[in-house]
Amino acid sequence: MKDTTAVVKSVLDRWNNDSACLISILLDIQEELNYLPHETITAIADSLGIPLIDVYSAATFYTVFSLEPRGKHIVNVCVGTACHVRGGKRILDRIQRDLKLNPGETTEDGLFTLETVRCLGCCALGPVMVVDETYYPHMTTKKADTILSKYRKDSEGVVA
Ligand code: FES
Repeated sequence: MKDTTAVVKSVLDRWNNDSACLISILLDIQEELNYLPHETITAIADSLGIPLIDVYSAATFYTVFSLEPRGKHIVNVCVGTACHVRGGKRILDRIQRDLKLNPGETTEDGLFTLETVRCLGCCALGPVMVVDETYYPHMTTKKADTILSKYRKDSEGVVA
């Protein structure tokens, strides 16, 4: 587990403690810790000399930020109209059953966080699922099973 205090200090140094760089600072800290723990928010506010509410406002305004711990892998299922009519809901239902999660939740083992998105901008490839930064087009429930199994095996150090 990373030292939260050291991560915050390193990121603030990288951005010269410049409050104009608040979003970049939050992005970098989230990149390191996978989410923004409360103590990082207060440390940023203290170090930059800005009100705590300003840091919280930025961290809660942008959907890219999470104040809750997230899994090692972020599974994002598109629920936009184009994906929905091509079976996106079936994909989401299958993954929810498989992972025993609702969107926004993380598996107990910390491996997966399930999220939904309204459109990924690649509607012709729907239904689309994204794991971390890898796009999986033309999804089926069978493909979803295979993909999640691969991530599980990889996390166990087993070659798929
Ligand atoms: S609706 Fe799914 S990518 Fe656009």
